[in-house]
Amino acid sequence: MKANKEQWSSKFGFIMAAAGSAIGLGNLWKFPYITGTSGGAVFVVIYIVFLLLLGIPILLSELAIGRYAGMNAIDSCARVHPKWGFAGAFGIIGAFGVMASYSVVGGWVIKYIINSFTDTGMGADYFTEYSAKSFEPILWMALFLIITCAIVTGGVANGIEKVSSVLLPILIVFLVGIMIYCLTLPNAIEGVKFFLIPDFSEITSVSDFMHILFNAMGQVFFSLSLGMGTLITYGSYLPKDNNLAASTVIIVTLDTIIAIISGLAILPAVFSFGFEPTEGFGLIFKTLPAVFSRMSGGTIIAAAFFILVLFAALTSSISLLEVIVSWVCSKTKLTRLKAAIAVTSVIFITSCFASLSVGAIPDIRIGSMSLFEFFSFFSDKIIMPLGGFFICILTGYVWGINNAAKEISNDGKLKFTMRRLFSFAIRYAAPLLIAVIFVSSIISIVQ
Ligand code: PFF
Repeated sequence: MKANKEQWSSKFGFIMAAAGSAIGLGNLWKFPYITGTSGGAVFVVIYIVFLLLLGIPILLSELAIGRYAGMNAIDSCARVHPKWGFAGAFGIIGAFGVMASYSVVGGWVIKYIINSFTDTGMGADYFTEYSAKSFEPILWMALFLIITCAIVTGGVANGIEKVSSVLLPILIVFLVGIMIYCLTLPNAIEGVKFFLIPDFSEITSVSDFMHILFNAMGQVFFSLSLGMGTLITYGSYLPKDNNLAASTVIIVTLDTIIAIISGLAILPAVFSFGFEPTEGFGLIFKTLPAVFSRMSGGTIIAAAFFILVLFAALTSSISLLEVIVSWVCSKTKLTRLKAAIAVTSVIFITSCFASLSVGAIPDIRIGSMSLFEFFSFFSDKIIMPLGGFFICILTGYVWGINNAAKEISNDGKLKFTMRRLFSFAIRYAAPLLIAVIFVSSIISIVQ
């Protein structure tokens, strides 16, 4: 096992890179549409509760394990306990699953950038027609993968950190502007109500409620990049004097703010233009062009916005590829470049099938889901919660709260005020919640 020698060049750089991994299509594309299909504000409330009970403690544990061991995700977990390397292995499988759907959506974003520049009209049916094509979406998806691979081969400090530090602040400013515009659209208030005022009377059965819980849990894992070793890997590049608890709170806050702003931009627009909130994964691709076409200078704004979405997606996809590449490099003699190319090629093949399953060859299904939907289900509803569950057990029982607290408090140099809450969440609340929601949802799907 070899320790990682690379380190983040500054605290700001690390926060931006970790937040860059967290903030991505999960916030901008997925959060609004999952909110739309999961009952609106009720989902948002449950999401926030899960952030506190699952998101913060698991994220903190992952950073602590990574910094303690200073190695890739699997070896870091094995350093905590030799039999527990498998707890870091979920990322390797999960990253393939996430990347398969992520690169398809990344390709759609690139196409929307090009359309914005060429002023191609993107009416309500455009997305459905385009995403059902066979060749062109694969072409742009390949470009998305090539860019991801190129940044990852640049190394940690050179690639990931620089890109994230510059673009994330710009994205936030831009998104706020779009949100303000959307909130002034006619009828926008209906979207705000849908998003912010919970209506529990809409939930008529236990299975409806379980469905919302399952979606909220999956979204917390997906949005914060949890249970996959990404943050273990990032933590391994952290210097020993970083305040892990403070970093965790900043990352979760930034990620949540972006998701909320994104919801507050998209859902009011959905209601204003008469779209259905239950539209599904095409929601932002149908709604946003309608918003931009109303703005003066909309073409330029649309292009700039989709470019920022692309960068947000890239700062996440590079973290996904990084998980696999850093593991392959430590296990084989392959250079970073060769490892990245080999891994990207495998992802490309799975992504091709995912892309085709959206519309061109709808028969590529697993049960009731298209392969595209299945990959995302498999990663954020199965692999990530399982990975998160084992991280809880590893931290709470195997490593032990004392050892974890020692790492989090930098050997007692920092005060770890939330220690009791952390202990309660990581030993009891989080693993129990994950187990109950996971098992009951799987049972209801299988039945
Ligand atoms: N958190 C990213 C998003 O919200 O788009 C997706 C992601 C990145 C998931 C990295 C998992 C991961 F390891």
